[in-house]
Amino acid sequence: MKILERDDTQLPAQASSEYDYETLLASRQRHFLPLALYHDKPLNLVRAEGMYMWDADGNRYLDCIGGIICISAGHHHPKIKQKLIGMLENNEPQHVSTLYLNEHPVRLAETLVEEAPDGLDRVSFTNSGSEANELAFMTARQATGETMIINLRHSYHGGTAATQAQCGHATWRFRAQPVTATTSALEPYCYRCPFNKKPDSCDFECAQNVETTIQTSTHGRIAAMIVEPVMGVGGFISPPKEYFDRVTSIVHEYGGKYISDEVQTGAGRCGQEFLLTRELDIDADMVTMAKGFGNGAAIGAVLMKSEDADSLKGKLYFNTFGADPYPVAQAQATMDIIKEEGLINNAREMGARIVDGLNEMAKRHHWIGDVRGRGLLLGMEMVRDRKTKEHAVAEAARFMDLCKDRKVLLGKGGLKGNVIRIAPPLTINAQQVDQLLEVMDQSLAEL
Ligand SMILES: Cc1ncc(COP(=O)(O)O)c(C=O)c1O
Repeated sequence: MKILERDDTQLPAQASSEYDYETLLASRQRHFLPLALYHDKPLNLVRAEGMYMWDADGNRYLDCIGGIICISAGHHHPKIKQKLIGMLENNEPQHVSTLYLNEHPVRLAETLVEEAPDGLDRVSFTNSGSEANELAFMTARQATGETMIINLRHSYHGGTAATQAQCGHATWRFRAQPVTATTSALEPYCYRCPFNKKPDSCDFECAQNVETTIQTSTHGRIAAMIVEPVMGVGGFISPPKEYFDRVTSIVHEYGGKYISDEVQTGAGRCGQEFLLTRELDIDADMVTMAKGFGNGAAIGAVLMKSEDADSLKGKLYFNTFGADPYPVAQAQATMDIIKEEGLINNAREMGARIVDGLNEMAKRHHWIGDVRGRGLLLGMEMVRDRKTKEHAVAEAARFMDLCKDRKVLLGKGGLKGNVIRIAPPLTINAQQVDQLLEVMDQSLAEL
């Protein structure tokens, strides 16, 4: 089936905001934690449909970041709306907890297992990616009897205590937060190789470094290693398949479980399979998910092997909202749409079109240091000088603002914040890709 065509160009911005802009911003700043906001003049978004979002002044934006990489099937897909409205009209329970049976989570577990690598046949639902990773750590520690978890520098795995401890970015860690039983291996970052090697002539020193790390900073056995198959917050660092082949065998040799964090990469975004772990044939013991598979619903999941799940027997694990019917039904509808509308193929084709366009643009704009990623999870690393690779930090922020002024929303990441992140809903079409490229081209020229 083809991607649902929606005439989302004609919609008026009916929704508005009861606040005037200045009051809203001031109140948010007064009552919220000091959280970052995108853009010099942050947007007040009030409406969304398909590939577009509207601000309170009625301006329409092409959404090329999907909230933060959460919108896979487009905003307000009619199938998702109908499903949720139907459930509400039938008075289906808004909450059941994991202590009762309900068919929605069971069906979603069956669907996920079908898409998972062989052997990952147990599922636990959570409310977020952080919680999914927390549960994966606990299970790995329980199953191995070990505590040490290895992460990668430049990684991001969440904002809770244990996941924050696995973040390879100083900006995401708090001094007050103790970091125990964790150590970091060097990043597989080909554009800025920590070993000063080139991808075509290296010997995967980065993979070898995992073994060195285990040998030099653990007692020789580990509980787990957690790795994002494409490092999202780190700036869409995308190591080749061989890296994972080598690292999984090292992790297993030292008794650890390999956790593949697919919070950003899952839901078909990388353009080949629903999970990148399966596409790359990564020998993972657990896969964690969230973001895009719920299309904006607060849902995460851990997929694991029965033998590891069984290590939790004899204790109680409970999650009040995990597997509640509505977010689960939204995730189910999202997975169905991804299949029915061929969105994984579309992610591959549109992703290739964006990469071609950016590579072409790199001939004209010296700011582009590297273009990388998979499918519709693409990064454009901005540098001041291609030789020195000096990070173009202020310029990346300015570039995002310039694109926003031209009505295209993008994201930003990387250790220094100089990598533009492009992760639109998987429904993007060729015309919209061309609009995105044109806006990026004009904005780079204006820089
Ligand atoms: C790779 C990865 N893992 C885990 C998380 C944490 O997910 P959440 O914010 O839903 O807790 C994130 C969030 O950005 C992420 O990118």
